[in-house]
Amino acid sequence: MSKIMEWIDARLPVTELIKSQATEYPTPKNLNYWWNFGSLALMVLIIMIATGLFLAMHYKPDALLAFNSVEHIMRDVNYGWLLRYMHANGATFFFIAVYIHILRGMYYGSYRAPREILWWIGIVIFFMLMGTAFMGYVLPWGQMSYWGAAVITNLMSAIPVVGEDLVVWIWGGFSVADPTLNRFFVLHFLLPLLVVGVVVVHLWALHAVHSNNPVGIDVHEGKDTLPFHPYFTIKDLYGMGVFLIIYCYFVFFAPNAFLEADNYIPADPMKTPAHIVPEWYFLPFYAILRSIDFLGAFSKLAGVIAMVASIAILFILPFLDRSPVRSFRYRPLSKQLFWLFVVNAIILGWVGYNPPDASLFHGAIPLILIGRTCTAIYFGYFVLLWLITALNIEKPRPVPKSL
Ligand code: HEM
Repeated sequence: MSKIMEWIDARLPVTELIKSQATEYPTPKNLNYWWNFGSLALMVLIIMIATGLFLAMHYKPDALLAFNSVEHIMRDVNYGWLLRYMHANGATFFFIAVYIHILRGMYYGSYRAPREILWWIGIVIFFMLMGTAFMGYVLPWGQMSYWGAAVITNLMSAIPVVGEDLVVWIWGGFSVADPTLNRFFVLHFLLPLLVVGVVVVHLWALHAVHSNNPVGIDVHEGKDTLPFHPYFTIKDLYGMGVFLIIYCYFVFFAPNAFLEADNYIPADPMKTPAHIVPEWYFLPFYAILRSIDFLGAFSKLAGVIAMVASIAILFILPFLDRSPVRSFRYRPLSKQLFWLFVVNAIILGWVGYNPPDASLFHGAIPLILIGRTCTAIYFGYFVLLWLITALNIEKPRPVPKSL
């Protein structure tokens, strides 16, 4: 075996690469379980591509056949139900992993220098994932697929001058129809493969600057680090085991917990469902979209801009945070703001789930008011973080010199 490896290594230094980038890769010794979610996202990405590939062998991207082809997968294809439930629930678990991964980065200041490019690549991945999930949801061609696609693609019409033409171009006709389904299938197949490429660059950027850690200080290689293997391979594997148990619970015992009942009704362009809701992972952004409608004629455009801005603002986060300290562990005000941000995002999700005309306390508080307040708090997080750090309002606690 070693002779073969020697032969290969002389031509392509594989052993050297594995040693320097995997087994002996220096990793901060104090990484906690929040650092598991990058590898968990990677695991779900692999599950999604593997199950998606087999689903694509039986699925028909044709408006007349799509719905039935999914039922065919569920009933006739050997283990087709398993493939489909793994894939549909995989989307949910992908977003759980990625949201925790992003929040971990926000809490421990992983977006700060020198990791800005790593962070930006992450946001690009996030946009790609949202596009992929949206187009995947259209494929079963149920009522929610159809009307969700109609609502979201219609948002483009708010873009001045070219909006209307852009929507027709995206649809491939004058409504969401067969050509739309066809192109969404092609793009839903292609995008995850591009995500793999961008994830490789993400990891390249990570390995160039190395991992941040809960204390948030720059570490001294050797003194503060351990080789990745076996210390972090075993920790990642343990995390994967726990994550898979929870995922399997949903796949096998509650496979429709995250799916909409309406999507088991075939798409009908003549019947609008009473309440069109996106998947849970889009709800906070959907709530922001619906909350901005005070600009009269331009309300739709303003809503779309606010929704895109709510994610795009993450790009400038590295420049908004001016604190001398990275980790929020030592930053009392930032820490409180962070938890306010998390709770607020959950409330936004709940607002997005409810019909826009709903109200609370016997009609005393309209939901739209709660949505607008939470939207203000969402953006307020970024403004306040900038203010308290730029004006030195926050006094960080002393940070240890080494791990
Ligand atoms: C398919 C999606 C993604 C995959 C597979 C992925 C994978 C990974 C992996 C394996 C790591 C190293 C382990 C860890 O620190 O957890 C990592 C680190 C990191 N990722 Fe991602 N990632 C994804 C999406 C994102 C997104 C959406 C963002 C931010 C918007 C992001 C930002 C970061 C940052 C800042 C680090 C360094 C963290 C640190 O060292 O403290 N990633 N990623």
